[in-house]
Amino acid sequence: MRKKIVAGNWKMNLNWDEANALFQEIAAIKKEGVEVLIFPSTPYIQPFIDTANRTISVGAQNAYAKDSGAYTGETSFQQLKSIGVNHVIIGHSERRAYFNETNVQLREKVDAALMHSITPVFCCGESLDIREAGNEKHFVTNQLKESLFHLSAEDFSKCIIAYEPIWAIGTGKTATNEQAEEMHQTIRSFIGDHYGEPIANSTSILYGGSCNENNAKELFSCYNVDGGLVGGASLKASSFKSIIDAF
Ligand code: 13P
Repeated sequence: MRKKIVAGNWKMNLNWDEANALFQEIAAIKKEGVEVLIFPSTPYIQPFIDTANRTISVGAQNAYAKDSGAYTGETSFQQLKSIGVNHVIIGHSERRAYFNETNVQLREKVDAALMHSITPVFCCGESLDIREAGNEKHFVTNQLKESLFHLSAEDFSKCIIAYEPIWAIGTGKTATNEQAEEMHQTIRSFIGDHYGEPIANSTSILYGGSCNENNAKELFSCYNVDGGLVGGASLKASSFKSIIDAF
């Protein structure tokens, strides 16, 4: 059985008081059988970890592949692990677009995460241009191949995948069930071709891109969708709770 996961990517939002109030509300949500992950801004990680109960995990939105050194402004996987972080988002499309992160750099980040026993939540997804040209499957599977497929089967099985079509992020335009299921199925069979069916079937593949309280139930009913990586709708406790309850 693969894990059902609902993850909130808060991006660069909320001041401390807002973030803390939201976190306390989310931490009080009880739901069996669904793993809840929260990815707040970096300064909030430690205080949240200190107050989190065991039903919620607090992760980081990004980290740098080197362990330590003269890299002003960066935070390493090693440092994050030392404060109890167990999940890091790697390869979000905003990191790829605004900070020019490449598949090769992301491969290094994946290696660094795994070296420190941190679970990568690896993001993939195509732009509208790529989809309109009919190249979305090739593009997404190539992202996985270039950043993840060097891993041993054992290491790969520690990763979580998030499919986030760029055209659906923050646009209010969600992938249809058919579009989401088709890509998730493609990703799973691509993993299966490389690592075998048992690993493909136990990999959690999350959907991200305008996932909200109105569409989560339908999206999560797709056979190959194992949960969501939620942006905007994770910034309101009631919406986020409805998404968790959609399972
Ligand atoms: P939205 O849910 O705001 O579209 O963001 C999705 C996302 O980028 C999550 O990582």
